Amino acid sequence: MLKFPEGFLWGAATSAYQIEGAWNEDGKGPSIWDTFAHIPGKIRDGSTGDVACDHYHRWREDVALMKELGLKAYRFSISWPRVIPSGKGPLNSKGLDFYDRLVDALLEAGIEPFVTLYHWDLPQALQDLGGWANRDVAYYFSDYAAAVARRLGDRVTYWTTHNEPWVVAWLGHGWGEHAPGVRNPKMALQVAHHLLLSHGLAGEVLRDLGRPDAQVGIVLDLSPVHPASENPNDLIASQRVDGFRNRWFLDPLFRGSYPADMWAFYGNIVPEVKPGDMAQIARRLDFLGVNYYTRTVVTYDPKEEFQIRRVQVETSEHTEMGWEVYPQGLYELLVRLVQEYEVPALFVTENGAAFNDNLAPDGRVCDEKRIQYLRAHIREAHRTIQEGVPLRGYFVWSFLDNFEWTHGYTKRFGIVYVDYKTLHRIPKESAYWYARVIANNGLD
Ligand code: FCB
Repeated sequence: MLKFPEGFLWGAATSAYQIEGAWNEDGKGPSIWDTFAHIPGKIRDGSTGDVACDHYHRWREDVALMKELGLKAYRFSISWPRVIPSGKGPLNSKGLDFYDRLVDALLEAGIEPFVTLYHWDLPQALQDLGGWANRDVAYYFSDYAAAVARRLGDRVTYWTTHNEPWVVAWLGHGWGEHAPGVRNPKMALQVAHHLLLSHGLAGEVLRDLGRPDAQVGIVLDLSPVHPASENPNDLIASQRVDGFRNRWFLDPLFRGSYPADMWAFYGNIVPEVKPGDMAQIARRLDFLGVNYYTRTVVTYDPKEEFQIRRVQVETSEHTEMGWEVYPQGLYELLVRLVQEYEVPALFVTENGAAFNDNLAPDGRVCDEKRIQYLRAHIREAHRTIQEGVPLRGYFVWSFLDNFEWTHGYTKRFGIVYVDYKTLHRIPKESAYWYARVIANNGLD
């Protein structure tokens, strides 16, 4: 039996655009994902998040199911345009009411709300002003944080500002794969800077307006980077990708500066940084949230952008996303974070896998591969705790099957199956398995 420390926060995660639906109800303004998903050809199965899992209407049922499974915490995000339809200015009380009720229901069910302020759904009205490339948006974000904290701050202890700023910057603004669909590396780095700045500003607001015991953090998508070979060029490539992906965010947050090697490498695409920005970004954090799915193996390739290319390790198992199953990477990553940065506490805020799940005629979804994936990663998480890593909780991505961004509904990450025709929720075998892990506070 691998026992976890008492009070370990076992949870599951979702995000607003991926599950809520009700995209234009009760005064909600459009977000950049509403706009993007409605453009033909952007989403692989032609779908949108208009209805998604209809969580906006089915939240009571969802909270009841979380309670049944024994979740100790639920990580969800707040839709900024639901709360402030045009991003700045008047509040939409119906939008705030929704989250207010949700938080109450969670607490009543004994489930800790773990709130993310930004999981990619910028109000379209702010995109029309230039979006995250416009420095003012960082200040609008902190006003939004204040509005949410004033309403929920008496009951919410755990806050995270951003989810995966690297994805917002690079998939959204560097390569144009995500909303708002911009392809401009220089802008991507400026956006990353504004995201970090907005994190610092909002963090301060959450501390001022939140509970005295509020815990404020940020969620990064981190990945250990390995060279494809011992070739010196591959080693350089792996350091570069580590800088691009991991250190570009970790260094500002924990050291108050961008990594010098990457600053030099980026040359004329580095962001504009104003005096005081770095100190604002590096203000005290209570915890770091880590989303871990896979490692990154890279090789040097002069033909590619930044002279790097990702390599598939053919001999490994891969999930439906094509991501290598590499549990020991979680151990490597968490240990490194504590060794190289002053990280006060850690949460695994996302970990999970998409597999091709089938609803059997007997009404069951036997997702043995997901159980194996989760077990292997939870085992690695346990190993880090034994070595003194201050890991305080673990969230499965995801509670429900949901809208997986450009993949639409084709990738199922949930421990609960969603029948998209009826919107029925059917706990998969992994949900029952996870419920036992939680009940035992550990693995058999
Ligand atoms: C993460 C996102 C989350 C989900 C998972 C699979 O990058 O935070 O919304 O898409 O990947």
